[in-house]
Amino acid sequence: MKKKQLALQITDLRKTYPKGTEALKWVSFEIEKWDFFALLGPNGAGKSTTIGIISWLVNKTSGQVIIDGYDLDDSGAEARLGVGVVPQEFNFGIFEKVYDIVLAQAGYYGISPEKAKPNVEKYLKALGLWEKRDVASRTLSGGMKRRLMIARALVHNPSVLILDEPTAGVDIELRLGMYEFLKELNASGVTIILTTHYLEEAENLCRNIAIIDRGTIVKYGPIKELLASMEDEVVNIEIDRVFEWDMLKNYNPIAIEATIDLTISSKQTLDAAIKILQSEWYTIRSVKPKSGRLEEFFLKSTGK
Ligand SMILES: Nc1ncnc2c1ncn2[C@@H]1O[C@H](COP(=O)(O)OP(=O)(O)OP(=O)(O)O)[C@@H](O)[C@H]1O
Ligand SMILES: [Mg+2]
Repeated sequence: MKKKQLALQITDLRKTYPKGTEALKWVSFEIEKWDFFALLGPNGAGKSTTIGIISWLVNKTSGQVIIDGYDLDDSGAEARLGVGVVPQEFNFGIFEKVYDIVLAQAGYYGISPEKAKPNVEKYLKALGLWEKRDVASRTLSGGMKRRLMIARALVHNPSVLILDEPTAGVDIELRLGMYEFLKELNASGVTIILTTHYLEEAENLCRNIAIIDRGTIVKYGPIKELLASMEDEVVNIEIDRVFEWDMLKNYNPIAIEATIDLTISSKQTLDAAIKILQSEWYTIRSVKPKSGRLEEFFLKSTGK
């Protein structure tokens, strides 16, 4: 059997912060190369702590982290070269110019400005920031700042990109653009690891996921299998005009004018239902879970 090539192996990872918070109690999972992987979980679950340890921003208490075959404990420098990180909090100089922020990052990896410039241009263009290259980063909108963080993380051509809640504060349209960008990047061979609160987001993007709750991995595996093990979910969708009854029959629609409740079974996806609405030129104003599949899953997984 062909040996799996792993981008990341985490074994028995624990983190207790100095004042005693046990942020990670038991975290073990592995991610294959070229995967698109999400670490899902509610606030305070330990997602950023896990990402922080992988990206050497947080010291672990115990356990092992191997990135692309390099153990963080004894080959940290080599491990870092292959990884790009987009932390949850913005952490660039607010008075620095957009272009300079991305270029300076290449310098940290020992890449000369001449060599780095084509990549700076490539990623600023790909992320829709080229027009903003000469402005100070503090004048960017929240969504633009998020994209600047992504351009900066990619400038040294990492083989693994790690993003901590990349869609926080990003509107629906930009979010879809970001999904496309990440999907293309993954198709070009980059392993992508992201964290999110939203099962729907993971469903849209990922092949494999791990669900973390209060410092413990409660579920881990292919998202399709996980979704198949779940029960129906009711989703409330608001559209821009009165709903036509014959559409979406398979989702048991219950509609009051432009508001519909759809039942998504384990064999269906919300994504598919939205595509049907969009194909009929409905504008989606909002999508809200009536019963949160992820929340239900946490409750079940933790036996509450
Ligand atoms: N620097 C720190 N010092 C002390 N405790 C911390 C620190 N960072 C995180 N924690 C605690 O560790 C736990 C896990 O936090 P973490 O930021 O990893 O969660 P998260 O899953 O990323 O949450 P969110 O979805 O809100 O970003 C929380 O109880 C948090 O208060
Ligand atoms: Mg976090």
